[in-house]
Amino acid sequence: MAEVVIVDAPETAGALVADEIVRRARQNPETVLGLATGSTPLPVYRALSARRAEVDLSRLRGFALDEYVGLDPAHPESYRSVIEREVVVPLGLDAGRIRVPDGHPARIRDAGEAYEGAIRDAGGVDLQILGIGTDGHIGFNEPGSSFASLTRVKTLTAQTRRDNARFFAVGEEVPRHCITQGLGTILRAGHLVLLAFGEAKAAAVAAAVEGPLTAWVPASAIQLHPRATVIVDEAAARDLRGATYYREAWAHKPDWQGI
Ligand code: GLP
Repeated sequence: MAEVVIVDAPETAGALVADEIVRRARQNPETVLGLATGSTPLPVYRALSARRAEVDLSRLRGFALDEYVGLDPAHPESYRSVIEREVVVPLGLDAGRIRVPDGHPARIRDAGEAYEGAIRDAGGVDLQILGIGTDGHIGFNEPGSSFASLTRVKTLTAQTRRDNARFFAVGEEVPRHCITQGLGTILRAGHLVLLAFGEAKAAAVAAAVEGPLTAWVPASAIQLHPRATVIVDEAAARDLRGATYYREAWAHKPDWQGI
């Protein structure tokens, strides 16, 4: 199962993941990161940007999880723009080494395969950062997504569109389609780090970590991964049956292991 770490605050989670990325970047400056969007990973990016003086991040490579289909890449809420604004610029990454799936309608038929090829050519993702949707999705793999799925077009659920409406202007439509790394793509990464904060995520976290493996909870796929770390705050940990054990295991974990 995943290692579950319960922390006091998102900043603590951000610092833990930043430590691991710094360690990897020192060992291999060309480490390949899987980059999530949404509000959840922001503490990781903030913690990393605060450590820019310590380590050269400019050669890191990155693959975003997903993108809206048909949204102008220049739109402030396209994931290309979000990754640029929240990750590339603050971390001082080289924009040419960071890829986002191509959501242009004219190229969408081949975009999934092209993205899979690019990830393969980079040697695969070393560390994949993940958030989780309130319906248990990761990336944009909505409930029902195959555990073997690769990068492809998906239709967003009404709930996800409602959840994400806050990023769009009043009267502006949240796109109906997206292109997302599949669960099978995500499972190929070397290390999965799933983050969740706040009570709204508690049910999804418990279902993902402790519930049965089911395509109905796409994040439950992480149970199949040999190295998955789930970092949650107290509120998101609310429904975890194993919380006492997770705390004990973390408190006694050898320092050298990190996350
Ligand atoms: C979107 C993204 C997911 C993200 C989720 C949760 O649907 N495609 O990658 O995990 O939102 O967002 P937040 O972290 O803002 O709660």
